[in-house]
Amino acid sequence: MAAKSGEPLNQLISTAAQNASKRIVVLSGDGIGPEVTSAAVTLLRDCSTESGYKFEFIEMPFGGTAIDLCGKPFPAETLSACRAADAILLGAVGGPKWDSLPLGNRPESGLLALRQELGLFANVRPIKVRPALLNISPLRAERARNVDLEIVRELAGGIYFGEHKSEGATGSERAWDVESYTIQEIDRIVRFAFERAARRGNHVTSIDKANVLASSVLWRSRAKEISANYPRVKTDHMYVDNAALQLVIAPQQFDVIVTSNMFGDILSDGAAGVEGSLGLIPSMSWGLGPSLYEPIHGSAPSIAGKNIACPIGAIASATMMLRESFDMRAEAQAIDSAIDSVLESGIRTADIAERGTTAVSCSEFVSRIREAMREHFSQVERYGWAV
Ligand code: IPM
Ligand code: MN
Repeated sequence: MAAKSGEPLNQLISTAAQNASKRIVVLSGDGIGPEVTSAAVTLLRDCSTESGYKFEFIEMPFGGTAIDLCGKPFPAETLSACRAADAILLGAVGGPKWDSLPLGNRPESGLLALRQELGLFANVRPIKVRPALLNISPLRAERARNVDLEIVRELAGGIYFGEHKSEGATGSERAWDVESYTIQEIDRIVRFAFERAARRGNHVTSIDKANVLASSVLWRSRAKEISANYPRVKTDHMYVDNAALQLVIAPQQFDVIVTSNMFGDILSDGAAGVEGSLGLIPSMSWGLGPSLYEPIHGSAPSIAGKNIACPIGAIASATMMLRESFDMRAEAQAIDSAIDSVLESGIRTADIAERGTTAVSCSEFVSRIREAMREHFSQVERYGWAV
């Protein structure tokens, strides 16, 4: 008997996932962080109830909330919990309340320390326009429709972790930040990008500023050398200024983009513009320790606590966790299809509403996704689950 989707029944649940218990550390953080992570956790719990495998959620203080609670953005207990996790789900950090603190004590420094402590050197940010949201893209539909790219951002080195210094008397200060990359740091991220490209579109665009920066000259020469080991993957090298332009005028040319920490930070917000809202984009940070999943948006203090934030970035981060850390592809697909069907029915959060659709609160939007998921699971039950 075939299931509704046409998939064989035994693919409707990932067998590896059955009976496994996964420990997920939740770092809700600041601003809209708690609202959007709680949405993602709710859907993960629903998945767990329906399909019988277990998730254990461990909430730990992080970011500005942790500063208020215990004086630091990344307490030692939070680090130990993260090290012992199977995966980490993060909301967002930062806010005006902590903006006057010195750089090294701000909520953002906790995030940088988390990335570094866990050896998370690769950050993946997928950009793909959901069919129901074609009209909120600022690009014409025929351009937006075929966009399916991944930004692979180096996350543990570069200018973020170079020297940050200022000196001099008031009125004559000088400040600097150092961008530096070793061959090892470049090679591991470039290889990671080629491996991902080999599993999807077989095309890597390496982005640098090799016409000006020494670190980029090294980056490009390593990227060229490594590309020779992947003859089936097409390789392009592009200057970052041109890449910013290309992402707007012809984003469908990209498959996997690999770039440095700061260029990746800037280009990924730009690429999110192609989808029409920063609130839609998930991410995975991958490396030596357990992977970290978080929406790429910030803490959005101006809308925090109003129950109007878009939870799609956080929920899609949870589905990325199911796929990438737990190999639970069928479950991830169940959540993703539920999001699509709610969007197709014209239900939106305010940031992605358009004429002819209905804007609802964050919690109402989540209820609708849960309903669509229940419908999906009841189909599965009717036809058999995990045969
Ligand atoms: C991101 C954010 C962070 C970064 C901030 C909050 C430190 O903008 O994840 O893109 O710059 O990496
Ligand atoms: Mn950013």
